[in-house]
Amino acid sequence: MNNKTIILILGACGQIGRELTVALREIHGTSHVIASDRYANRTDVPNYMQIDVLDGERLKHVVKQHGVTQIYLLAAMLSAKGEQDANAAWNLNMQSLITVLNIARDEKLDKVFWPSSIAVFGPRSLKFNCPQETRTDPETVYGISKRAGEYWCNYYYEKYGVDVRSLRLPGLISASAPTGGGTTNYAVNIFHEAIKHQYFECYLEESTVLPMLYMKDAIRAIIKIMSAPSEKIKVRTAYNLGGISFAPCDLAAEIRKYIPDLKVVYQPDHRQVIANSWPASMDDSGARNDWGWAHEYNMAAMASAMFESLKAIKKPSLDHYPEFLIEDVAAI
Ligand code: SER
Repeated sequence: MNNKTIILILGACGQIGRELTVALREIHGTSHVIASDRYANRTDVPNYMQIDVLDGERLKHVVKQHGVTQIYLLAAMLSAKGEQDANAAWNLNMQSLITVLNIARDEKLDKVFWPSSIAVFGPRSLKFNCPQETRTDPETVYGISKRAGEYWCNYYYEKYGVDVRSLRLPGLISASAPTGGGTTNYAVNIFHEAIKHQYFECYLEESTVLPMLYMKDAIRAIIKIMSAPSEKIKVRTAYNLGGISFAPCDLAAEIRKYIPDLKVVYQPDHRQVIANSWPASMDDSGARNDWGWAHEYNMAAMASAMFESLKAIKKPSLDHYPEFLIEDVAAI
């Protein structure tokens, strides 16, 4: 680790933030990694401060005061929730990024990480093995904000030399935090409901294949791209990232190896339209070739790891989490 590295994580209580905070602290030490989110009173999280990412003045003040050298901006409104309030989603997703990019330029930060998403793609993108460069035409506000954000990242890199790095993350599966507001969330919720009720109502059709990744792989990808030498980062918008692809029926079959009585009822809702517009699998050869990305967890390994982690959580259900995290957690 570099002794001068001070990391600020914005959105540290979200699905990615929780695990990324732990992983970065293992590398840099807790005192070098400031966790922040918009929630007050997180006395359970060490080195935590409340920050609203839309409050640029305070953000700048914190960066100066603590000598922050890297920012990980994870706060965002996801695809399904974003459709309910397009203006709020655009404002949060874009304004936070521009604010962070300006601070990175003005305060000469070493690096910024900002996640993009498979949501940048749309119905005219290639469905299978979706390439890095292809038509995107996103149809959700979330996807539009991520696509526009990619161009902003590239712009600040080209024009001001801001070293901002980004990945088009697929659906992420993890046990440590519930998901909020996304289209791929079913792949997390099914585990909790299977354990609790042996019953799951799925809002996607059984055959809807989407790209997914176990969170541990996603965290490794983030750490790997952020520690790669600058010359290895050849894509300054955002890299495609893939790993596993499966449909709800595939995941249900895997979970039945652990919970044979699981019953799944398929009741597609508005999120089906979003899922239909996204690729089923990603060509992430750019990330693999440029900075050595390789995923480790296939679907079976992911499910096994999920059950292992959920066993460690005393009460493996969404009740386990504070209410605010279930409703509107701010992460990808
Ligand atoms: N997981 C996100 C969502 O479902 C996609 O990046 O909105």
